[in-house]
Amino acid sequence: MTERIKPARCVRGAVQLPGDKSISHRYAMLAAIAEGPSRIRNYSTGADCGSTLECLRAMGAEVRTEGEILCIEGRGLDGLRAPATMLDAGNSGSTIRMLSGILAAQPFQSRIGGDESLSRRPMGRIIRPLSEMGAEIDAREGQYPPLEIHGRPLRAIEYRLPVASAQVKTCILFAGLYADGETVVHEPVRTRDHTELALRAFGAGLTVDGLTIRIQPRPRLRGRELRVPGDLSSAAFFIVAALIVPESELVIEGVGLNPTRSALLDFLVSLGAGIRVLNVSETAGERVGDIEIRTSRLKGGIIEGALTAALIDEIPVLAVLGAATEEGLVVRDAAELRIKETDRIATVEENFRRMGLAIETAPDGLRVPGGQKFRAAEVDSFGDHRIAMAFSVAGLAADGETVVHGAEAASVSFPEFYSSLRAIAE
Ligand code: S3P
Repeated sequence: MTERIKPARCVRGAVQLPGDKSISHRYAMLAAIAEGPSRIRNYSTGADCGSTLECLRAMGAEVRTEGEILCIEGRGLDGLRAPATMLDAGNSGSTIRMLSGILAAQPFQSRIGGDESLSRRPMGRIIRPLSEMGAEIDAREGQYPPLEIHGRPLRAIEYRLPVASAQVKTCILFAGLYADGETVVHEPVRTRDHTELALRAFGAGLTVDGLTIRIQPRPRLRGRELRVPGDLSSAAFFIVAALIVPESELVIEGVGLNPTRSALLDFLVSLGAGIRVLNVSETAGERVGDIEIRTSRLKGGIIEGALTAALIDEIPVLAVLGAATEEGLVVRDAAELRIKETDRIATVEENFRRMGLAIETAPDGLRVPGGQKFRAAEVDSFGDHRIAMAFSVAGLAADGETVVHGAEAASVSFPEFYSSLRAIAE
């Protein structure tokens, strides 16, 4: 699918976003192994979270929608059954990595794989700790999907994550639910803590002390009524659009503002962004609020260290923003970008070149000079949702019509992206 993006005079109005992708995956997986029904409002409409639901259905979980509410009948910790065929995680790294933690403990064998992009993503990072816990996992070339997981009774471990990854942390904590004692995970830097909050919400025993998380085995998880906050990583595209398109004023309602995700807002404010947060509340431990954004003159900035981990999904659209700042943007410590849905350093670089924008890249980062003009061009998603959306936003600031090839990739996290964009871009 090709989308044509016209330059916008301004971005105005109010938008509501589909539920947070990260939180949706976790709620669905925990609901399936809890006891009793869960009712989840504002579950992500993205294909990735749909893949999680299909995998859970394939293991016997009853998943249905009642109007806008997703209902999952929990089967209890030991109630899943062997899937008849290979579980399909589609494009979703979260599905395969997090669900593997549960699969590793089942008294059955399962296979889980996905599309071509997922099949190139490294799984050694989950295979290592799960093997240490006693699971047996075969992977293509030892580390790529599909994974064949022979579930086993699991041993509790103490594990130091070699890379900052909330998916890997989640995988181990989910496996820890089934272990024979307390499982301990140490993170190198703080990553998103939706798993910790969700586990508590469902009734698991978990403590967090700095970068160390301890989970008690075999809790009685109970089904819940939950509401998924709007996805801040999806909001990022509209926030950047409103900041760089002149005379814009936008409100995004009901967005997740979990402090382990909201570094985005602090970073943008440090660049001079006119952003206000209003109507803050809390649901199941997750902060939620409305965000008001106005066009702003932005200085440049540096993203490195722990900040890179906190902003990892937002870097493609922040690179676009960087070109519109006064002094530009530097991103360091971002080797992880190369193993996302695409090599995001390479795909950002290619689209920058097509739009006549300067960029320098390194194995683990990039440097975008500021004060640049966006030239209308034909860009490509390369099959990556965040690349499709980032360069559609760039198109709003370009000097003519921008053509985005492979725009359907946006539906992996945000199927309503183009209709929402059209509704606010004038
Ligand atoms: C996610 C963690 C991050 C992020 C991904 C979602 C999560 O991945 O990029 O989009 O929900 O835990 P890593 O764990 O690989 O850093």
